[in-house]
Amino acid sequence: MNEKQPIPAFRGAIFDLDGVLVDTARYHYLAWKRLAAELGFDFSEAGNERLKGVSRMRSLEILLELGGRSLSDTEKEASAARKNAWYVEYLNSLDTSALLPGAAAYLGELRARGIRIALGSASRNAPLILDRLGIRPYFDALIDGNTVSRAKPDPEVFLKGAAALGLAPADCTVFEDSAAGIQAAKAGGMIAVAIGRPEHLPGADRYIASLEAMLL
Ligand code: BG6
Ligand code: MG
Repeated sequence: MNEKQPIPAFRGAIFDLDGVLVDTARYHYLAWKRLAAELGFDFSEAGNERLKGVSRMRSLEILLELGGRSLSDTEKEASAARKNAWYVEYLNSLDTSALLPGAAAYLGELRARGIRIALGSASRNAPLILDRLGIRPYFDALIDGNTVSRAKPDPEVFLKGAAALGLAPADCTVFEDSAAGIQAAKAGGMIAVAIGRPEHLPGADRYIASLEAMLL
Protein backbone atom coordinates (compact mmCIF):
# COMPACT_ATOMS: atom_id res chain seq x y z
CA MET A 1 0.00 0.00 0.00
CA ASN A 2 1.39 3.40 -0.93
CA GLU A 3 0.59 5.36 2.20
CA LYS A 4 2.14 8.59 0.96
CA GLN A 5 -0.05 9.23 -2.10
CA PRO A 6 -0.61 12.98 -2.02
CA ILE A 7 -4.12 14.39 -1.56
CA PRO A 8 -5.06 18.02 -2.20
CA ALA A 9 -4.81 20.50 0.70
CA PHE A 10 -8.07 20.69 2.67
CA ARG A 11 -9.69 23.08 5.18
CA GLY A 12 -12.11 20.64 6.80
CA ALA A 13 -11.80 17.03 7.96
CA ILE A 14 -14.85 14.80 8.41
CA PHE A 15 -14.35 11.57 10.33
CA ASP A 16 -16.40 8.42 10.39
CA LEU A 17 -16.30 7.07 13.96
CA ASP A 18 -16.50 3.27 14.18
CA GLY A 19 -13.43 1.71 12.57
CA VAL A 20 -11.72 5.06 11.91
CA LEU A 21 -11.29 6.68 15.32
CA VAL A 22 -12.37 3.87 17.62
CA ASP A 23 -12.39 0.10 17.55
CA THR A 24 -16.03 -0.63 18.37
CA ALA A 25 -16.56 -3.44 15.85
CA ARG A 26 -15.83 -6.04 18.56
CA TYR A 27 -18.59 -4.69 20.82
CA HIS A 28 -21.10 -4.49 17.96
CA TYR A 29 -20.17 -8.09 17.12
CA LEU A 30 -20.60 -9.38 20.67
CA ALA A 31 -24.01 -7.72 20.98
CA TRP A 32 -25.27 -9.03 17.61
CA LYS A 33 -23.90 -12.50 18.45
CA ARG A 34 -25.84 -12.48 21.72
CA LEU A 35 -29.03 -11.58 19.86
CA ALA A 36 -28.38 -14.31 17.27
CA ALA A 37 -27.89 -16.86 20.06
CA GLU A 38 -31.25 -15.86 21.55
CA LEU A 39 -32.84 -16.29 18.13
CA GLY A 40 -31.27 -19.74 17.86
CA PHE A 41 -28.38 -19.34 15.42
CA ASP A 42 -24.68 -18.58 15.47
CA PHE A 43 -23.19 -15.38 14.07
CA SER A 44 -19.61 -15.51 12.78
CA GLU A 45 -16.96 -12.77 12.67
CA ALA A 46 -17.00 -13.08 8.87
CA GLY A 47 -20.72 -12.23 8.92
CA ASN A 48 -19.92 -9.21 11.09
CA GLU A 49 -17.86 -7.71 8.25
CA ARG A 50 -21.11 -7.14 6.37
CA LEU A 51 -22.43 -4.92 9.16
CA LYS A 52 -19.63 -2.34 9.14
CA GLY A 53 -20.91 1.13 8.23
CA VAL A 54 -24.48 -0.20 8.03
CA SER A 55 -27.33 1.32 10.10
CA ARG A 56 -28.65 -0.49 13.16
CA MET A 57 -31.91 -1.63 11.54
CA ARG A 58 -30.27 -2.66 8.28
CA SER A 59 -27.68 -4.59 10.32
CA LEU A 60 -30.50 -6.49 12.02
CA GLU A 61 -32.04 -7.31 8.64
CA ILE A 62 -28.70 -8.68 7.39
CA LEU A 63 -28.29 -10.70 10.60
CA LEU A 64 -31.76 -12.22 10.20
CA GLU A 65 -31.03 -13.02 6.56
CA LEU A 66 -27.80 -14.80 7.58
CA GLY A 67 -29.68 -16.78 10.24
CA GLY A 68 -32.58 -17.57 7.94
CA ARG A 69 -35.05 -15.92 10.33
CA SER A 70 -37.79 -13.38 9.84
CA LEU A 71 -39.43 -11.12 12.42
CA SER A 72 -42.39 -8.74 12.40
CA ASP A 73 -41.68 -5.01 12.43
CA THR A 74 -42.53 -4.82 16.14
CA GLU A 75 -40.21 -7.73 16.94
CA LYS A 76 -37.48 -6.09 14.86
CA GLU A 77 -37.78 -2.84 16.83
CA ALA A 78 -37.60 -4.78 20.10
CA SER A 79 -34.60 -6.87 18.93
CA ALA A 80 -32.66 -3.81 17.74
CA ALA A 81 -33.34 -2.14 21.09
CA ARG A 82 -32.13 -5.24 22.98
CA LYS A 83 -28.96 -5.37 20.91
CA ASN A 84 -28.35 -1.70 21.54
CA ALA A 85 -28.84 -2.04 25.28
CA TRP A 86 -26.14 -4.75 25.35
CA TYR A 87 -23.88 -2.67 23.10
CA VAL A 88 -24.24 0.37 25.39
CA GLU A 89 -23.44 -1.89 28.36
CA TYR A 90 -20.20 -2.95 26.61
CA LEU A 91 -19.45 0.71 25.82
CA ASN A 92 -19.35 1.39 29.54
CA SER A 93 -16.02 -0.42 29.65
CA LEU A 94 -14.69 1.56 26.68
CA ASP A 95 -11.55 3.55 27.45
CA THR A 96 -8.82 5.32 25.50
CA SER A 97 -7.17 1.98 24.69
CA ALA A 98 -9.99 1.57 22.12
CA LEU A 99 -8.79 4.62 20.19
CA LEU A 100 -7.28 3.46 16.90
CA PRO A 101 -3.57 4.17 16.15
CA GLY A 102 -2.91 7.82 15.37
CA ALA A 103 -6.52 8.92 16.00
CA ALA A 104 -6.00 11.26 18.97
CA ALA A 105 -2.64 12.51 17.68
CA TYR A 106 -4.06 13.32 14.24
CA LEU A 107 -7.11 15.13 15.68
CA GLY A 108 -4.71 17.20 17.80
CA GLU A 109 -2.47 17.93 14.83
CA LEU A 110 -5.40 19.06 12.66
CA ARG A 111 -6.65 21.41 15.36
CA ALA A 112 -3.18 22.87 15.77
CA ARG A 113 -3.14 23.52 12.02
CA GLY A 114 -6.51 25.30 12.17
CA ILE A 115 -8.36 22.63 10.19
CA ARG A 116 -12.06 22.44 11.06
CA ILE A 117 -13.26 19.01 12.20
CA ALA A 118 -16.64 17.26 11.97
CA LEU A 119 -17.91 13.81 12.81
CA GLY A 120 -19.88 12.03 10.07
CA SER A 121 -21.14 8.77 11.58
CA ALA A 122 -24.17 6.51 11.20
CA SER A 123 -24.11 5.72 14.91
CA ARG A 124 -26.76 7.01 17.27
CA ASN A 125 -24.32 6.25 20.11
CA ALA A 126 -21.68 8.65 18.77
CA PRO A 127 -22.00 11.32 21.52
CA LEU A 128 -21.65 8.65 24.22
CA ILE A 129 -18.55 7.16 22.55
CA LEU A 130 -16.88 10.57 22.06
CA ASP A 131 -17.48 11.42 25.70
CA ARG A 132 -16.16 8.08 26.98
CA LEU A 133 -12.98 8.61 24.98
CA GLY A 134 -12.66 12.28 25.89
CA ILE A 135 -12.33 13.37 22.25
CA ARG A 136 -15.52 15.43 21.87
CA PRO A 137 -13.63 18.76 22.35
CA TYR A 138 -11.75 18.17 19.08
CA PHE A 139 -14.96 18.48 17.04
CA ASP A 140 -16.50 21.66 15.67
CA ALA A 141 -19.61 19.76 14.50
CA LEU A 142 -21.24 16.39 15.19
CA ILE A 143 -23.34 14.77 12.49
CA ASP A 144 -24.49 11.27 13.44
CA GLY A 145 -27.31 8.73 13.28
CA ASN A 146 -29.50 11.09 15.30
CA THR A 147 -29.26 13.88 12.72
CA VAL A 148 -29.32 12.15 9.33
CA SER A 149 -32.23 10.48 7.58
CA ARG A 150 -30.47 8.84 4.63
CA ALA A 151 -27.79 6.19 5.21
CA LYS A 152 -24.39 6.07 3.47
CA PRO A 153 -23.80 5.69 0.47
CA ASP A 154 -26.11 8.72 0.37
CA PRO A 155 -23.84 11.76 0.88
CA GLU A 156 -26.25 13.47 3.33
CA VAL A 157 -24.12 12.86 6.44
CA PHE A 158 -20.98 14.38 4.89
CA LEU A 159 -22.78 17.24 3.13
CA LYS A 160 -24.30 18.18 6.49
CA GLY A 161 -20.82 17.92 8.01
CA ALA A 162 -19.30 20.29 5.43
CA ALA A 163 -22.22 22.73 5.81
CA ALA A 164 -21.87 22.67 9.61
CA LEU A 165 -18.19 23.56 9.21
CA GLY A 166 -19.13 26.39 6.83
CA LEU A 167 -17.06 24.85 4.04
CA ALA A 168 -17.64 23.71 0.47
CA PRO A 169 -17.58 19.89 0.05
CA ALA A 170 -14.51 20.18 -2.21
CA ASP A 171 -12.61 21.78 0.70
CA CYS A 172 -13.25 18.75 2.92
CA THR A 173 -11.53 15.39 3.30
CA VAL A 174 -13.50 12.41 4.58
CA PHE A 175 -11.85 9.56 6.52
CA GLU A 176 -13.78 6.29 6.15
CA ASP A 177 -13.39 2.53 6.62
CA SER A 178 -16.53 1.37 4.80
CA ALA A 179 -17.23 1.03 1.08
CA ALA A 180 -20.58 2.82 1.50
CA GLY A 181 -18.79 5.68 3.25
CA ILE A 182 -16.24 6.10 0.46
CA GLN A 183 -19.07 6.15 -2.09
CA ALA A 184 -20.92 8.73 0.03
CA ALA A 185 -17.85 10.97 0.26
CA LYS A 186 -17.22 10.85 -3.49
CA ALA A 187 -20.93 11.37 -4.27
CA GLY A 188 -20.74 14.48 -2.06
CA GLY A 189 -17.75 15.86 -3.99
CA MET A 190 -15.19 15.40 -1.19
CA ILE A 191 -11.70 14.00 -1.04
CA ALA A 192 -11.89 10.45 0.37
CA VAL A 193 -9.18 8.78 2.43
CA ALA A 194 -9.83 5.07 2.98
CA ILE A 195 -8.64 3.26 6.07
CA GLY A 196 -8.25 -0.12 4.44
CA ARG A 197 -7.39 -1.64 1.10
CA PRO A 198 -8.46 -0.68 -2.46
CA GLU A 199 -9.99 -4.12 -3.11
CA HIS A 200 -12.47 -3.60 -0.25
CA LEU A 201 -12.92 0.16 -0.59
CA PRO A 202 -12.88 1.13 -4.26
CA GLY A 203 -12.85 4.73 -5.44
CA ALA A 204 -10.90 6.50 -2.66
CA ASP A 205 -8.23 9.12 -3.32
CA ARG A 206 -5.77 7.64 -0.86
CA TYR A 207 -5.42 4.38 1.12
CA ILE A 208 -3.87 4.15 4.57
CA ALA A 209 -3.65 1.40 7.21
CA SER A 210 -4.45 3.81 10.06
CA LEU A 211 -4.51 7.54 10.80
CA GLU A 212 -0.90 7.20 11.94
CA ALA A 213 0.04 7.44 8.26
CA MET A 214 -1.44 10.96 8.14
CA LEU A 215 0.78 12.39 10.89
CA LEU A 216 3.33 14.91 9.71
C1 BG6 B 1 -21.71 2.49 12.14
C2 BG6 B 1 -21.15 1.11 12.41
O1 BG6 B 1 -20.74 3.46 12.37
O2 BG6 B 1 -22.83 2.74 12.99
C3 BG6 B 1 -22.24 0.06 12.26
O3 BG6 B 1 -20.08 0.84 11.52
C4 BG6 B 1 -23.42 0.41 13.15
O4 BG6 B 1 -21.72 -1.21 12.58
C5 BG6 B 1 -23.91 1.82 12.83
O5 BG6 B 1 -24.48 -0.52 12.96
C6 BG6 B 1 -25.07 2.25 13.73
O6 BG6 B 1 -24.60 2.34 15.05
P1 BG6 B 1 -25.48 2.43 16.35
O7 BG6 B 1 -24.46 2.71 17.43
O8 BG6 B 1 -26.42 3.59 16.16
O9 BG6 B 1 -26.20 1.14 16.52
MG1 MG C 1 -16.86 2.95 10.02
